[in-house]
Amino acid sequence: MRYNPSMPLSVVILAAGQGKRMQSDLPKVLHPVAGRPMLSHVIDCARALEPAATHVVHGHGAEAVRSALADAPVGWVLQAEQLGTGHAVMQAAGQLPDDHLVLVLYGDVPLIRPDSLRPLLERAAQGALALLSVRLPDPAGYGRVLRDNTGRVYRVVEHKDATRKEQAVDECNTGLMAMPAAALKGWLGRLSNDNAQGEYYLTDLVAMAVKDGVPVEAVEAPTISEVMGVNDKLQLAEAETAFRRREAEALMRAGVTLIDPTRFDLRGRLSHGRDVELDVNVIIEGEVVLGDRVRIGPNVVLRDCTIGPDTQVHAHCVIEKSRVGGACSIGPFARLRPGNELSDGVHIGNFVELKNSRIGEGSKSNHLTYLGDADVGSRVNVGAGTVTCNYDGANKHRTTIGDRAFIGSGSMLVAPIEIGEGATIGAGSTLTKNAPPDKLTLERSKQLTLDGWKRPVKKT
Ligand code: UD1
Ligand code: CA
Repeated sequence: MRYNPSMPLSVVILAAGQGKRMQSDLPKVLHPVAGRPMLSHVIDCARALEPAATHVVHGHGAEAVRSALADAPVGWVLQAEQLGTGHAVMQAAGQLPDDHLVLVLYGDVPLIRPDSLRPLLERAAQGALALLSVRLPDPAGYGRVLRDNTGRVYRVVEHKDATRKEQAVDECNTGLMAMPAAALKGWLGRLSNDNAQGEYYLTDLVAMAVKDGVPVEAVEAPTISEVMGVNDKLQLAEAETAFRRREAEALMRAGVTLIDPTRFDLRGRLSHGRDVELDVNVIIEGEVVLGDRVRIGPNVVLRDCTIGPDTQVHAHCVIEKSRVGGACSIGPFARLRPGNELSDGVHIGNFVELKNSRIGEGSKSNHLTYLGDADVGSRVNVGAGTVTCNYDGANKHRTTIGDRAFIGSGSMLVAPIEIGEGATIGAGSTLTKNAPPDKLTLERSKQLTLDGWKRPVKKT
């Protein structure tokens, strides 16, 4: 659902902080949740609100942050010195037209959802300062939302500036807020850093709004996990768990069977058909597409791949940057490295490695084989222990195998080489020349039996 604003929206994402408690050289907002930088999750959330512009205030590790998100459709605002959240928004003020709404998000609050922000925008469009709040069982460290005895919000006080009584309040400021740009800019000009941390607090806007007679509204966040800030590796792991849980629930609601949703990892995006089933410890990375009735066995890693309907991937397979057709059987223990195209009905069995190969319809390679840079036709049978010798130490060469060929076990196919349609290759052959169609080709020294040969015996 699109939020229908009466005013255009500018989003400001605060991402300049260092994140000391991460104990890491990587800027905090680049630490990944589900395989993507936290900041990129926040940018995606902003985009879903269809803003006129998104500005990212960055500072610590500026170059690393910009280059990690070089393709993001955002404007970059530099905050050279980190003097507080209010100071951070000041740096973007020049980019915020007076007739816009402004939404402030945090780069280290990665799980926020667009639907939870829409109520803030609706209230801000009516002229209010709207902030997202959350009730926390352990509110230590957070700013507290203070209400008067009629229940009206009159101030947000930072934990370090709060009295004991104020610290007992469990309604916390998530930091995310929305307001009309013109009002925001007026307030920013009046901020001071006269407080416990010597910082320009964005949260001081609340008291200013009250003073100016602007309504302040605290909207409670639907869930705690989506407003959790990530400040250290423990919270990073919590965010990962919460994200996984949320994604798993969405998949199950959409009809995917997860044998155990706590033993499932999504580090990217999964598109799926109907009646897809994932056994335990499946890891999905990048963009993965699974057709109707695909079944994935336990301990499988799928990275940037598409798998056609009715295909079964058995236990312990790794499939990367490949397309697998329908009604295939893969594994157990198969490895598909990047660049493979498998047609329908292909069987790839245990300890078979494929790389940059095309396998035609109904072809089988069931045991202990390496097919690299190969073009394999349809209904080909590749025997156990076959190797396409594709690398001469300097260059890679292709192997072409025609339809209905039968490659005997233990064959070495030294590329470049072509095996004709319907050719049969005798087991144990090392072929360096093309094999013609419909004939038996073999390369093998004659079998000898020595009469009168005696087994050596131990000397006494
Ligand atoms: C802030 C809020 C607090 C709220 C909490 C929720 C203020 C003064 N306090 O506190 O009320 O409960 O978030 O998590 O706003 N940042 C900059 N530049 C700066 C300072 C911070 O870009 O100069 C960014 C950080 O990178 C971070 C965000 O702003 O993404 C929040 O900063 P942080 O220092 O973590 O604020 P808190 O002390 O947690
Ligand atoms: Ca924080």
